Amino acid sequence: MATVEELLRRGAEQLRAAGSESARLDAELLLANEIGIDRTAIVAHPTAPVGAGAAARYEAALARRAAGEPVAYIRGIKEFHGLAFAVDDRALIPRPETELLVDLALDDIVGRLTSAPRPTGTRPLSVADVGTGSGAIAVSVAVALRKSGASADVRLFATDVSPDALELARENAVGHGVADVMRFVEADLLPPVIPGPFDLVLANLPYIPTETLPELPVAASFEPGLALDGGLDGLDVVRALLARLPEALAPGGLALLEIGADQSDAALAAIAASLPGWPARVEPDLTGRPRVVRLERPAA
Ligand SMILES: C[S@@+](CC[C@H](N)C(=O)[O-])C[C@H]1O[C@@H](n2cnc3c(N)ncnc32)[C@H](O)[C@@H]1O
Repeated sequence: MATVEELLRRGAEQLRAAGSESARLDAELLLANEIGIDRTAIVAHPTAPVGAGAAARYEAALARRAAGEPVAYIRGIKEFHGLAFAVDDRALIPRPETELLVDLALDDIVGRLTSAPRPTGTRPLSVADVGTGSGAIAVSVAVALRKSGASADVRLFATDVSPDALELARENAVGHGVADVMRFVEADLLPPVIPGPFDLVLANLPYIPTETLPELPVAASFEPGLALDGGLDGLDVVRALLARLPEALAPGGLALLEIGADQSDAALAAIAASLPGWPARVEPDLTGRPRVVRLERPAA
């Protein structure tokens, strides 16, 4: 029987030769997944023997990874905001940089819930996650609110134009025990009749310029084009959402929109053109790169 370390060494070599820049980590994650244990246990027990069944499944997983498929799709899981999300080719794999949007959303929600007394009968805050994909943003928000006991004060809507993505988002909401506080709506951005207006609109919409799609790592070619393609300059879908905000966002409401690190100027120019007088700025991510547009609708 081969040991953990032997399989990892051979696997990492195979993936390195296939062009993976994280070959050893990929091999560790894939082997741990096939054995059914945590990656740290793999690293801690290099001389442990691996059964023939797990070794064969690992070889098959390596072949998929060597062909470019993302590790997250092979494992069927991606960690996001401290939660494990089911992922497959129905939706984009949630990216760590999107956690900033979740944190900003939670700060805003908590601020609204605590800044003024909320007498019994006050309507719940209304929050929309537009283009929810795997549900990463909306489900993370719902889980955090449930933990803090604030679920009843917030109504969460998650929309996507892709029924497949919505199905995955629903599965993740069920898996994390928050489906009861969420509504999933198949819509082009937002439903024609807004069940709002919303106090908070969250969106990580596609923002890759069409002509740069072929330059993305091969792993991205396994993800839905609908999740990535943002049109000529990458901001087509974001601009379409801006056009809907006067009807969708309540006075005093906030929109948090993820953008590409080089799109700040273009996004702020689009806002100035379509929503003059609405204050906007761009929040940087942990590495200092511009990442989330914070756009306020002035109070009436
Ligand atoms: C970049 S992915 C983000 C998914 C998820 N919010 C996340 O952060 O991982 C963009 C999502 O927007 C959806 N989408 C694209 N165009 C849309 C539209 N016009 N209306 C609603 N959703 C749209 C895609 O199907 C995809 O699920």
